[in-house]
Amino acid sequence: MVPLAAMPSDQVRLLLVEDVPQVAQYVRGLLNAQSQIRLVDVITDGGRALAQLADQRPDVILVDALLQGRVRGMALVRELKASGLGIPVIVLTVPQQPVAVSPDDGVDEVLSMPFNGYDLMTKVVAVSKAHAAATAHGPSRMVTVFAAKGGVGKTTLAYNLGVAAATDGARVVLVDGAIQYADLRALLNVPDSAPSMLDLPTDRVAEADLEDVLWRDPSGIDILFAPPRVEMAEMVLARDLEKTVSLLRRLYELIIVDVGVALDEVTLSLLDQADTILLIVTYDGTTLRNTLAMAETFAKIGYPLAKLRYLVNRADAAAGIDPAELTARLGREPDYRVRSDGKVVVPAGNLGQAFVTSDPDALVSRDVVEIARRLAPARAHARPAAAAVG
Ligand SMILES: Nc1ncnc2c1ncn2[C@@H]1O[C@H](COP(=O)(O)OP(=O)(O)O)[C@@H](O)[C@H]1O
Ligand SMILES: [Mg+2]
Repeated sequence: MVPLAAMPSDQVRLLLVEDVPQVAQYVRGLLNAQSQIRLVDVITDGGRALAQLADQRPDVILVDALLQGRVRGMALVRELKASGLGIPVIVLTVPQQPVAVSPDDGVDEVLSMPFNGYDLMTKVVAVSKAHAAATAHGPSRMVTVFAAKGGVGKTTLAYNLGVAAATDGARVVLVDGAIQYADLRALLNVPDSAPSMLDLPTDRVAEADLEDVLWRDPSGIDILFAPPRVEMAEMVLARDLEKTVSLLRRLYELIIVDVGVALDEVTLSLLDQADTILLIVTYDGTTLRNTLAMAETFAKIGYPLAKLRYLVNRADAAAGIDPAELTARLGREPDYRVRSDGKVVVPAGNLGQAFVTSDPDALVSRDVVEIARRLAPARAHARPAAAAVG
């Protein structure tokens, strides 16, 4: 027999906000048949949910989108997000009233009626696990920037997002995980003699080694470069890079990783480790097709939807594909959009600069600054204010 005391620690504590007694009863019935999830309470009044939550401290909250009363379902979801409690939310809805997964708006998962015990359990457990993994590293956040096709702006955006977050006061490191082509080195005109991840000791990387290989970029971020030549790429071991990144998490608030297009061992481990995968898309048929294939692969690997954010680059240049079609095919509204501005982006790139600093008032820069704010951990925004007081 399993000792009783050993059980509760693994249990996911679920709180249900539901004003229809039959639905509450149905959920209760499904959960009675298992021990992985414990229903800590059912709150019927959305207006009192926040106050009650502070005592209950659930791991996951399930909110009915159709909740009536003073504070309705989706208004409560927004309130929960704004509260900063950081408890993941699953929205319960009906097919006639679809709700899209949108972690930045507080919708971490969606459960559509009718659902069975299996649907309910897998979603609650997956959301809870993903949240636990994302918070295990304290306030640091790792964002892996990925694209299913080259040339969509991945490297340019990774660099500019990093610089924007650093300008906001966050400690940022950028890792060139697209190890074959050393694009970041080329973008910043950094000589081949500057150290790379290959200068780290194999199999025994330690925190003290990092200092010697990190590039202090004048933009305010630190960079771990890929090796300067193509044939050196195969000498980079996925497990060493994985260890290096986990050490970087102790030192930086935001870790941005630019990864290659191919799903090789290095890329996969950097996607696994990430809190957020930022998937760059453009309004281009091939990119979209490859992106959908990639999203399917991610689902098969078991990445929760909330780990993924879609960024449409050059979003005002909708060549060929209608934005509504993009949304329909992705199955959700893209999380972020960056407009196209060759007059700002290209010259900055040619000078090895970030356009967010060379041209901070350009609309394309504002797009990127806003996204950086949403991606960086919350604590990063508080720093400049705190420094002003001290
Ligand atoms: N929003 C944008 N507006 C205009 N040009 C852009 C934009 N984003 C990227 N570019 C340009 O597109 C080209 C490819 O970008 P890059 O970052 O190298 O792509 P990737 O890393 O995906 O291969 C570069 O010349 C870059 O300056
Ligand atoms: Mg690139």
